[in-house]
Amino acid sequence: MISPVSYELTDNIGVITIDNPPVNALSQAVRQGLLDAIRTAQADASKAVLIVCAGRTFVAGADISEFGKPPAKPFLPDLLNEIEDSAKPVVAALHGTALGGGFEVALSSHYRCALESAKVGLPEVKLGLLPGAGGTQRVPRLAGVVAALDLITSGQPIAAAHAVSLGLIDRVIDGDLQSGALDWCRELIAAGAAPRKSSELPVENVEAGVWADYRSKLARRARGQTAPQKIVDCIEAAATLPFGQGLARERELFMECLQGTQSAAMRHIFFAERKAAKIRGLSREMPLRDIQKIAIIGAGTMGGGIAMNFANAGMPVALLEIDDEALEHGLSIIDRNYAGSVKRGKLSETAAAECRRLIDGVTDYAAIADADLVIEAVFEDPELKKEIFARLDAACKKGAILATNTSYQDVNEIAAATKRPEDVIGLHFFSPAHIMKLLEVVRADETADDVLATCMALAKVIRKIPVMSGVCYGFIGNRMLQHYMREAQLCLIEGSTPEVIDTALEQWGMAMGPLSVADLAGLDIGYKARQALPADKRGDPGAYRVPDVLVEMGRVGQKSGAGFYRYDPDTRAKSGDAEVLEIIEREAAELGIERREMDANEIIDRLIFSLVNEGLKIVDEGIAQRPSDIDVVYVYGYGFPAHRGGPMHYADTVGLDAVLDRIIEFRDRFGDANWKSAPLLERLVADKCTIAQWATANEK
Ligand code: 3HC
Ligand code: NAI
Repeated sequence: MISPVSYELTDNIGVITIDNPPVNALSQAVRQGLLDAIRTAQADASKAVLIVCAGRTFVAGADISEFGKPPAKPFLPDLLNEIEDSAKPVVAALHGTALGGGFEVALSSHYRCALESAKVGLPEVKLGLLPGAGGTQRVPRLAGVVAALDLITSGQPIAAAHAVSLGLIDRVIDGDLQSGALDWCRELIAAGAAPRKSSELPVENVEAGVWADYRSKLARRARGQTAPQKIVDCIEAAATLPFGQGLARERELFMECLQGTQSAAMRHIFFAERKAAKIRGLSREMPLRDIQKIAIIGAGTMGGGIAMNFANAGMPVALLEIDDEALEHGLSIIDRNYAGSVKRGKLSETAAAECRRLIDGVTDYAAIADADLVIEAVFEDPELKKEIFARLDAACKKGAILATNTSYQDVNEIAAATKRPEDVIGLHFFSPAHIMKLLEVVRADETADDVLATCMALAKVIRKIPVMSGVCYGFIGNRMLQHYMREAQLCLIEGSTPEVIDTALEQWGMAMGPLSVADLAGLDIGYKARQALPADKRGDPGAYRVPDVLVEMGRVGQKSGAGFYRYDPDTRAKSGDAEVLEIIEREAAELGIERREMDANEIIDRLIFSLVNEGLKIVDEGIAQRPSDIDVVYVYGYGFPAHRGGPMHYADTVGLDAVLDRIIEFRDRFGDANWKSAPLLERLVADKCTIAQWATANEK
């Protein structure tokens, strides 16, 4: 087998080239090749060694697909110690993204240079891990403790110039990286530069309080996650122990993370996210439609945020409103959002002005005739949407993609309002649309393959994570959410309180409890939807009586200063409200519900298993391509904790037989209107098969 690592003596420099597409991950073959090459360099005429990578990037980390399999030698920490122990100076030349184990290769080298466009970082925490090959020991020695804590617990890559300012990279190379790096090697040889081990540097003294402060900050920022706390342990070890002992501690904690459920869940999400972008039956080579100009109909909450996504990616946007007044209002919110981004340091003033300049407010359909993609984001009214699609059909050029941001409506019916249903698709953004990562791409019956493929690819351009959904009420995410929210309301009226329910779910890991979410979204939206239905079609009154009473009192959530909670008008800080408890008790009594003690386990299981059950129905119906797509939707769109891997992965960790038992228990207690077990769940339990095993078999 040809090694992915080659070695060549160029003049008196030993050049090691790693060539392992797509991202030069440190597979066993790469580790072996690197070890062989560094050993060859020790014995030949070279005076310095240069490590470079072919392709689009320097090494982007350990090979994540090897995790969970039996470890194979050479182990990365041993390899890196051998690189650092080289008797000849080793230079690493970085381009693309030098991440994780890849950046650790660079840190164990004696000198580091990079292209200005390169980024470096230790993103292991995003996989529920910590750097396991010296990163937690070498970064504090080179950059200081606080910089190490920030870099490694955030997992965020930093630009080469920033890395230079922290002392992590020595120089930035202009022009061709390899020739610039070779010149630098020659300079080092001429100057008689010796190997320079970062492991031998001292770690600066820090105030004793730093560790406790950082741990409590992380307990809030990364609630429930174990890896960030262990990273602090490792960096503290770097500051208090000799290098070898610190390295051993890092290895021990790395192995603990690697074998734990949190990392398994987060690695599942890493691969799930990438898999979600692939549509079965669509060729990767499918020619895409050219998308340059965007038009958005409706400059409200969603339309404005959607416009910002495209402007931020450098694409011109025409934002169409019903009249000048509505337009001014929408544009003023966009201005405020950009000003906020500048204030928070997310964008420079110039960059924000440049993005804003790309958004043009219009009120006339003639102004959007040349748009390549139109996204409709007007009120959630099916008749209005159909009317707008008929107008778009008349006004837009041939080949334009016509998309709707509807949350619930039937995209097939919307498409039928045009004479070109093959050009119609759903693009369901999540609020706030310029921030939330998820994009549900809704494939209607007649959506053309190239329209779908273009939208999946475009999602990446605007930095969204796309998941394809079929057409059904609420698509993947909101269809499941209805069940989760229903259970939250039922738990409330049967015996709990908003605080108890939200705390239970937040401690379990959800970013925000369901009643706080309801207050944030606005209780009036569901109220209006229910009012539009005849009384006998509104479902179980226990699931909506309390929010209906709140809305009728003018308590529509955060925007009115009160909903399930009260909100401080200045700080928006929330507090519980005894009046709400009185309303709950009164409504329960009126509905003949006897309130009872309810523990957190019941609340969590009812809410989370309702997601699992509906998710499995969605997969079985083919609305989602695969179970892991559902996990991506929930982690990136609904604040489901990545360290639990999404509802489908979580169900496997609980055990499907235990999940089914609990659902049957709920069915027996609460009736089968809400608790009909998913046929796929029953089949998997009968076959003693996990969701993951079923998905793998199905993928083939
Ligand atoms: N191991 C295995 N496969 C990887 C990989 C890795 N570290 N990184 C990326 N890949 C694969 C992806 O699964 C994808 O495969 P596919 O084409 O079959 O779907 C392919 O490479 C391309 O990846 P992306 O689609 O993500 O490509 P992008 O260009 O958008 O992004 C990237 C490139 C920024 C490098 C991104 O892939 C990434 O962030 N990778 C993970 C980096 C990381 O987490 N590194 C740390 C690993 S843990 C570690 O190093 C432990 C050590 O401390 C001991
Ligand atoms: P919104 O009420 O904030 O904005 C709707 C905008 O459409 C208003 O500015 C209105 O003036 C404009 N409009 C109405 N009729 C128009 C017409 N004929 N021509 C041009 N503009 C017109 O509503 P929001 O929240 O932005 O929702 C828009 C769509 O996005 C809805 O379909 C909704 O279901 C969906 N959605 C909403 C989410 C949310 O959290 N708010 C999340 C995801 C999707």
